[in-house]
Amino acid sequence: MRVGGAAEWLLEPADVDELVAAVNSVRERGLPLWILGGGANLIVADGVLPGAVVATDRLRRVWRWHGDGDPFAFDAPPPHFPERQIEAPAWLVAWAGESMPGLVNRSKALGWSGIEGLAGVPGSLGGGVAMNAGGSWGELWDAVDRVRLLEPDGNVVDLPRDAFAPSYRNANLGDRIVLAASLRLEQSTKAAVDARVREHLEHKRRVQPVTEWSAGCIFKNPPKERSGGKGAGQLIDEAGLKGLSKGDAIVSPLHGNFLVNKGHATATDVLALIDELQSRIADRTGLLLEREVKVWRSDAGAGHSIGR
Ligand code: EPU
Repeated sequence: MRVGGAAEWLLEPADVDELVAAVNSVRERGLPLWILGGGANLIVADGVLPGAVVATDRLRRVWRWHGDGDPFAFDAPPPHFPERQIEAPAWLVAWAGESMPGLVNRSKALGWSGIEGLAGVPGSLGGGVAMNAGGSWGELWDAVDRVRLLEPDGNVVDLPRDAFAPSYRNANLGDRIVLAASLRLEQSTKAAVDARVREHLEHKRRVQPVTEWSAGCIFKNPPKERSGGKGAGQLIDEAGLKGLSKGDAIVSPLHGNFLVNKGHATATDVLALIDELQSRIADRTGLLLEREVKVWRSDAGAGHSIGR
């Protein structure tokens, strides 16, 4: 959203080993720890954020895996092994900092199907796995096969899909941090994957303010049985709240569940607008819209080990 303050400390590890070392050293010092992926689903409060932000932005590696040996062994086979026929299924493996659009593009170029429903979802793989990124056409955890995690005690573990219980927009990882993940895809054709990616991107461009400064959907859609099947955007729209603003933060006239920074909004503006939407929708419908975006602020709670 291009709002918010500064980090007290910023660590930018360049590979998975450095990420583990960075997180462990922040934890050993008892500092608040904030893991920053692509930042696409995040509002950082104004002011200085105490503690250490560990950014995964430099951890961009993606490679194919053919089903033998350790999927996370980045060096074997080499990342640029020659094009070869791989029997279905096929795996893409990536470090946490790889971009979601980059992964969708890679699957498209290979003609591997399974994540085209994520087309247009910004951010990084680590955040996507932790928050179960997705939309009406599927969720990332439909494809996640194995995850390499850093545990709160500093150990690195590889766990299969069955060891997790992902739910709507939350993989329920607790204080565990995603280092890398493998995605299980199916052999298809470049043309078929490309057609679905285009369809999804065109739909998004029509109904979402994709070129403006936003943090995606602000609220989770409430349980259908409680909202009569209406999503958060529709509830905000029907309440006549599109266009409502605080400073330069405005409820998108295109989609009610998007707040847009028109240029000079502050995090304080955005957070005040979120509060106002919550209370207006609660007054009108009795539903408390639950925030989907993450908010980082210094009062996030004493003793927390990972910022949320
Ligand atoms: N609608 C309105 N007014 C609005 C917005 C939507 O009436 O202002 C109606 C639409 O006409 C449609 C229904 O509400 O009938 C659902 O809208 P849409 O198809 O835009 O989907 P959504 O439920 O609002 C979800 C995800 C999006 C994802 C899209 C498409 C959530 C909270 N949102 O939106 O995810 O991009 O499906 O897959 O689950 C995000 O997570 O940041 C995000 C944007």
